[in-house]
Amino acid sequence: MKTLVITGASKGIGFATAKTFCDAGYRVINFSRSAAPDDRIENHSIDLTTEDAESNLNEVLDQSLESGEIKLVHNAASSTNDSVKDADTQALKHMINLNVIAPHMLNRALIKKMQPGSAIIYIGSTLSEKAVANTYSYVTSKHAIVGMMRATCQDLAGTGIHTACICPGFTDTEMLREHVGHDPKILSSIASASTFNRLVTPEEIADSILFAAENPVINGAIIHANLGQVEV
Ligand SMILES: NC(=O)c1ccc[n+]([C@@H]2O[C@H](COP(=O)([O-])OP(=O)(O)OC[C@H]3O[C@@H](n4cnc5c(N)ncnc54)[C@H](OP(=O)(O)O)[C@@H]3O)[C@@H](O)[C@H]2O)c1
Repeated sequence: MKTLVITGASKGIGFATAKTFCDAGYRVINFSRSAAPDDRIENHSIDLTTEDAESNLNEVLDQSLESGEIKLVHNAASSTNDSVKDADTQALKHMINLNVIAPHMLNRALIKKMQPGSAIIYIGSTLSEKAVANTYSYVTSKHAIVGMMRATCQDLAGTGIHTACICPGFTDTEMLREHVGHDPKILSSIASASTFNRLVTPEEIADSILFAAENPVINGAIIHANLGQVEV
């Protein structure tokens, strides 16, 4: 059976992705602190930033997953508003642990089990290829994800495993709403920055992830899924 292993499927883009893969006939294994509210999803409660995260991941995956066609989606992340002028070192390390080191730990645990047809999909951001002010740590971590994806493509040449980085635009999730302080005016202004004058839905990103995961012609690619951004 085809399997999706995903991080951060308790809500937002991750939850939509987990449901989309369930509907497509996949077994779905999720790692996040809280559970995804859908009985079809196998939840494992893990804080991916802790010292014992790697051993916990390995223990679960060794016990519950055989070799096969595995799609691995690195989705869990956090964001914050900070600047090169004031970013706290520990906070940056914490974000790198979740947004960059956790994908590395899962790659180590799973590549050995991945048969041809498997895929590793990284979730980047519009801020994987550009920066805006006061998103220093997040921009740094999301650029790192692109480097990791490109290195993954090169190192896995000939294995039949492909990789891509899906970069969502402003998507209607808790992360975005918290980021703008739940201010409807800011949300509306953000929506108007898309050429469709609306936010992306989590389901649209989920469909993009499924497409990339099932089509190896998309290998080493960065795909922007943002409805087109209005340039000023
Ligand atoms: N929303 C946007 O506009 C947007 C735009 C560009 C890129 N993205 C990217 O899309 C991805 C999903 O974002 P989202 O908006 O869906 O975010 P979200 O709604 O905040 O969900 C984040 C997920 O990450 C999990 N998570 C957070 N900290 C964790 C930890 N320490 N250990 C384990 N899991 C943890 C959360 O689960 P628990 O809280 O249960 O642990 C949750 O399931 C992220 O990579 C984000 O950078 C989002």
